[in-house]
Amino acid sequence: MTHIRFLNPDGTLAAEAHAPPGTRLLTLAQTLGLPLEGTCEGAMACSTCHVIVAREHARLLTEPTPHEEDMLDFTAHVQPTSRLSCQIHTTADLTELTVSLPVAHTNMQGR
Ligand code: FES
Repeated sequence: MTHIRFLNPDGTLAAEAHAPPGTRLLTLAQTLGLPLEGTCEGAMACSTCHVIVAREHARLLTEPTPHEEDMLDFTAHVQPTSRLSCQIHTTADLTELTVSLPVAHTNMQGR
């Protein structure tokens, strides 16, 4: 199981949960009622699922694909460890994951 913490932009805890391997981070966030729209449902076309991964956990995740990196290039409030939560899945060896919600989302589908 992975202990996942979602932080508000001000660093306070928004929600936390334990998730089994294979859990998609976006789906978990939505189940917890967090404001990640995921408008394109994981097609990497909207960036409304943007999160900022804690530095100490970013290297534990699989590398973003070139397509994901391209989407992040056009996303507002991007940080060096920004990711699309629709592309993050928990794994058996990932015991902890902390991500922050950005101050706002951009919907690339609206362009
Ligand atoms: S849900 Fe649209 S890019 Fe992730």
